[in-house]
Amino acid sequence: MNPARKPLIAGNWKMNAGGAAGCALAADVARGTTAHDRVEVLVAPPFTALAAVAHELSGTAVAVAAQNLHPKASGAYTGEVSGPMLLEAGATSVIVGHSERRALFGDSDAVVAEKVAAALAQGLRPIACVGETLEEREAGRTLEVVGRQLDAFVRLLAERPGFGVVAYEPVWAIGTGRTAGPEQAQEVHAALRARLAAVSPTLAQQTRILYGGSVKADNARALLAEADVDGALVGGAALDAAAFVAISAAAQALAGAPS
Ligand code: PGA
Repeated sequence: MNPARKPLIAGNWKMNAGGAAGCALAADVARGTTAHDRVEVLVAPPFTALAAVAHELSGTAVAVAAQNLHPKASGAYTGEVSGPMLLEAGATSVIVGHSERRALFGDSDAVVAEKVAAALAQGLRPIACVGETLEEREAGRTLEVVGRQLDAFVRLLAERPGFGVVAYEPVWAIGTGRTAGPEQAQEVHAALRARLAAVSPTLAQQTRILYGGSVKADNARALLAEADVDGALVGGAALDAAAFVAISAAAQALAGAPS
């Protein structure tokens, strides 16, 4: 963590808590994080719960993100949801290029870039994900892969430094209980920040790079203590309010610690 950047703890609920359960979870998160004034907290419910969760969270400091968007604003795209619709539902951020989207729904680097551009055009904060597979890591290609993924949208982020967020999520660590060690995460985060710096030093200084992949209450502190880890994108543990609140509490404690 670096005092120049406010930590962001984001909960990606994936295809869970899409109804009343989402509102209850959101209310618990808001209650538990009320005192976390040095942390930005957000939750990303499924589309069906966006408006209800945003309503539940109105008047609290917890923000709402969507998990995906269609790059077009409207039109004949059955089953899709656009940026303006997300804004109207109360979302202020959107996750783009999550590895599950890339692997299961064909979100290529080009599609991810289109979605980042659409989010920015709508004033939605993109949380753009990058990450290598286990095979790529074992072949020593991690930095090449995440570098290529970042390059697809980095110039778009440079149009508004500090607004867009990058999330490093090694695919082999998502939902597996295997976490990148703090040094492994830091190595990739530092490489991503160097790549941002090549485009603009301001962009590198201001962009938050989140770590994601089996972040839990008991490993969050060590990951967040790394210099270039500016927060967490949390999947499984975000469905448990107490666990998610504990991760936010770790960020709150570190953000207040003298450096
Ligand atoms: P996980 O998911 O915390 O369950 O590993 C993280 C993510 O996919 O964003």
